[in-house]
Amino acid sequence: MSEQNLFKVTIDNISIEVPAGTTVLQAARLIGGQVAPPAMCFYSKLEGSGGKCRTCLVEVSKGSEKDPRPMPKLVASCRTTVMDGMEVKNITSEKVLDARAGVVEFLLLNHPLDCPICDQAGECHLQDLSFDHGKAETRYEFQRRTFKKHDLGKNIQLHMTRCILCYRCVFTADQLTNKRVHGILDRGDHAEIATHIEKSLDNEFIGNVIDVCPVGALTDKTFRFKNRVWFLKPMDAHRDCPTCSGRVTLWNRGDEVYRVTARKDQWGEIEDTPEGQPGWICNTCRFDKKATADWIIEGPREISRQSVIAQGHYAGNIGTTKPTEIFAAVNDGRTPHLLMDIHDESEVNQPTIHLGKIQGPSHGDTFNTNNTYKA
Ligand code: SF4
Ligand code: FES
Repeated sequence: MSEQNLFKVTIDNISIEVPAGTTVLQAARLIGGQVAPPAMCFYSKLEGSGGKCRTCLVEVSKGSEKDPRPMPKLVASCRTTVMDGMEVKNITSEKVLDARAGVVEFLLLNHPLDCPICDQAGECHLQDLSFDHGKAETRYEFQRRTFKKHDLGKNIQLHMTRCILCYRCVFTADQLTNKRVHGILDRGDHAEIATHIEKSLDNEFIGNVIDVCPVGALTDKTFRFKNRVWFLKPMDAHRDCPTCSGRVTLWNRGDEVYRVTARKDQWGEIEDTPEGQPGWICNTCRFDKKATADWIIEGPREISRQSVIAQGHYAGNIGTTKPTEIFAAVNDGRTPHLLMDIHDESEVNQPTIHLGKIQGPSHGDTFNTNNTYKA
């Protein structure tokens, strides 16, 4: 009964038909764009994930065609399955936006404001969430949590103060490795990620915890403090790996490979391989293959997620376009009182030079002595 199995759900006034059993979050992702609620703990590739962070709350204004009563409270869209005729409000609901702002405030209560030195900056889901729903100030007057340091081995760095206890890394270790040696210990505001008797996480697939961590709590030690992600150029590449799919994204500066990650989709999740399997990668590909010669380069990776790392890497090279806005268009129609042209003041940033083509930091010489970077 394929037709009867399809349920019609309307989210933010956009209707879609989805198979019974689909969650509201998955249905919203099928519609796409801002209709999809943010999700800090749900991860479609990890069984059992979701239901922890409450960032995906939505308002169900009509339960179903049969029982149109609205749901009395906001519900977690990652854990709520659609009913036929259901109507849901995400960004069209004041209540949802208010609740989400509250959730962000709670998530940030103990989170350190160390984005300037955090390796996750630029691709951090909490950073994006705070930008969209956060407040400029905090009402929290107490000291933030501190933790005893745990060493997770040579490849993975844990910053427990940044952890939002989403459990994704625990599910990853459970479902991808043969022996989980870390988990969440204690309860309430004592809860923390820790390994029992400081065992290092060294299973061949454990590096994937770095990719699933939505914040900078688990980062790559081989990349630590080496560069900012927005200065790097992501390239899709693959190698014939006996252990994993071997399909990765290399984060390069010039010819130097700074880090290797799995390929991620627009929701920040691991992309599927052409065979339809999640493209998890092994530790050897991630931590040990740091030379371009190790890889067959496929070409520039387009970052589909809305983030600073998606900005202008290949403008003009792979079909992206330079922004055409003029000042008034981005300033509510107001024109500036005084406008200075930087090119009148400085040799640097000449309009004929294409900054996107410069590999590495630029100097006066870059602009004065050669034409390689002409736009
Ligand atoms: S370390 Fe990262 S992935 Fe693990 S629970 Fe904390 S925030 Fe989630
Ligand atoms: S994504 Fe739904 S509760 Fe975290």
